[in-house]
Amino acid sequence: MSTPTAPTTSDAPSQSADASYHAANRADRLAASVAHPTGAPIIELRDVHKAFGPQKVLAGLNLAIEPGKTTVVLGPSGSGKSVMLKHIVGLLRPDRGEVFFDSHRIDNRRERDLTEIRLQIGLVFQMSALFDSMTVEENIEFPLREHTKLTREERHERVREALATVDLPGIEHKLPAQLSGGQRKRVALARAVVLQPRVVLYDEPTTGLDPIRSDGINELILKLKNTMGVTGIVVTHDLVSARKVADRCVLLLNGKVAADGTYDELENHPEARVRQFLIGRYDHEDEQDDAPGRSGK
Ligand SMILES: Nc1ncnc2c1ncn2[C@@H]1O[C@H](COP(=O)(O)OP(=O)(O)OP(=O)(O)O)[C@@H](O)[C@H]1O
Ligand SMILES: [Mg+2]
Repeated sequence: MSTPTAPTTSDAPSQSADASYHAANRADRLAASVAHPTGAPIIELRDVHKAFGPQKVLAGLNLAIEPGKTTVVLGPSGSGKSVMLKHIVGLLRPDRGEVFFDSHRIDNRRERDLTEIRLQIGLVFQMSALFDSMTVEENIEFPLREHTKLTREERHERVREALATVDLPGIEHKLPAQLSGGQRKRVALARAVVLQPRVVLYDEPTTGLDPIRSDGINELILKLKNTMGVTGIVVTHDLVSARKVADRCVLLLNGKVAADGTYDELENHPEARVRQFLIGRYDHEDEQDDAPGRSGK
């Protein structure tokens, strides 16, 4: 059933939105995200398989995301974390398996029928992916121009609010090149939340930031969950961040969920390969005791 489609080129939402949709439903969607009536998963991947040529990346991935919580996805480089996120927004289609948003199957929808879903999902890409030639204000305003009928004044008010949310008031007129890496991540986050999405997908939001700025991003992830009821999926290699923001952690290995629980549960997982990932070492468990010089190996 999968219809290959050209991915949209940036984290800006696609061009073909029904502009009235957002304005009419924003309040309803927010309310639903805060108090999801059924406790049903807001996102679900069922037995998702994805290969690129001979390379199997996802191999029967099952994952159900509870609304209003932050799920951290861990896994080695190349384990398919970003590929998984792209399935959630329909930028990639599974070879086999199904993807659901709000209990509606989305992996077999036409590109234009995905807009309604994409408007509910903010995406913070691995690289901040701001438009370099646009000011901060123009970057954040972009989704509002594309998808709402707000007036110029209303849009600017929303940009101001979004910048206040990410603790960067008053930088509207700067260009991305004039910002630090941490500021760019915050602006990307402001752009991702300006449409007040129910879900935010964060792909390595703290990579490349110093510990203080990383912690600032962690605080923002918590704030969006606590104040706006945002459901978060955070892909990260940053274990400090994972421990801080995760209500739940899943570890992807070999295209599947290898472990699923709280951060503490993963740290104390019965399988050594899971515990080892959490302490950031590849060595065989037995070698840990001999650790200082492994020259004999
Ligand atoms: N569009 C694509 N075409 C071909 N191969 C791809 C494509 N997208 C991803 N891959 C491959 O799929 C594998 C998983 O990629 P993915 O980006 O999901 O890894 P990741 O877990 O996010 O890694 P990292 O932690 O380094 O970001 C990689 O080997 C990558 O090269
Ligand atoms: Mg990635």
